[in-house]
Amino acid sequence: MFISNTANSSIAELLSNTSLNRQQIIQLLNLDGATTKNQLLKKAHQITLKYNNPQVYIRGLIEFSNRCQKNCLYCGLRRSNRIIERYMMTDDEIISAALYACKNHYGSIVLQSGESTDHRFCYRVTRLLKKIRHLTHGKLKITLSLGEQSKETYKTWFENGASRYLLRFETSNPRLYQMLHPQDSNHSFDKRLEALFHLRDIGYMVGSGFMVGLPTQSIGDIADDLLFLAQLDVDMAGIGPFICHSQTPLYNLKGTLLPEDDRLFLTLKSIAILRLLMKEINIAATTALETLSVEGRKMGLLAGSNVIMLNLTPDRYKTKYTLYEKSKNHRSYEGINNKTIHQSIPSGIKIAYSDFGDSIHYLKRQKRL
Ligand code: 5AD
Ligand code: SF4
Repeated sequence: MFISNTANSSIAELLSNTSLNRQQIIQLLNLDGATTKNQLLKKAHQITLKYNNPQVYIRGLIEFSNRCQKNCLYCGLRRSNRIIERYMMTDDEIISAALYACKNHYGSIVLQSGESTDHRFCYRVTRLLKKIRHLTHGKLKITLSLGEQSKETYKTWFENGASRYLLRFETSNPRLYQMLHPQDSNHSFDKRLEALFHLRDIGYMVGSGFMVGLPTQSIGDIADDLLFLAQLDVDMAGIGPFICHSQTPLYNLKGTLLPEDDRLFLTLKSIAILRLLMKEINIAATTALETLSVEGRKMGLLAGSNVIMLNLTPDRYKTKYTLYEKSKNHRSYEGINNKTIHQSIPSGIKIAYSDFGDSIHYLKRQKRL
């Protein structure tokens, strides 16, 4: 771990700064005492309420296939994992999940799957976008999270109803990126960045992010990841703790990881610092947070996040969408209904129903605000 040894500023000073440099971010990430840590999280929450709609946006998450052509060393869906049973939801199943979201006034859905650049897959997504758009009469914004694709594919999907895209860079340290992926042209850091630039160019509301607590990742790396999100000028962000999966090569390094509690708090501090850096973006309280603690997502919503995803994937599939190993207390295993939503939301915070929940940062960037 990197501990700064230059003169430290007081916490109050740092929290009132209009910008933060790498050294100051490292100092905040290293905060340890309960009081100072809480000061940071509280400040981030206040900024979230002040600069954004002071409500939580909800997204209906549809994990429609766990097939993936990639082989990321950290992920349970990697192509070489022969143990998991692969699935692909039917068009009808996907559409009925989208209609559920629409009927329940979610305002937005996320269509996510493992990566495929097969032309039949791309064509099918286009067809689904058209159908969903037609059936929901513009009442749902559609976010895609389908990995790296050609600029043409991104453009076709945009023209057919997708308006937001999530693509994490995972880590901004190219050495660490290499360590987390096979050494081939299918897993290139530069290509990932190029994809992010294409998405922005086309006009998507762009989301990116990274994992916290990766093997060999330093505090300095996390500070760089936060600054990289600011440099990319993202509209949305997802920062989640790394969670080991026993069916992946990275499992060998399990013993070297930070304890789960520390990983959880380091993620919360990262979210809070991002909120200080980017006041008007949407930040998700990721489902991985809830895997480390039953209260994880609530904690995220009190530390700078303003979005949660509610899993609409049918039960028989969602147990097979194992990017990481989920604990038994994981709420997304439970059937989602309008009564259980409140278990993931702190009391006093309202849900923004029937609201697209556009990122203010994006609207300003597009000069629509
Ligand atoms: N732990 C935490 N997050 C993971 N992801 C994939 N595998 C893991 C893991 N083991 C995240 C990646 C990816 C997103 C879809 O899921 O950040 O971008
Ligand atoms: Fe596939 Fe994404 Fe998992 Fe990589 S992280 S193996 S691209 S699902």
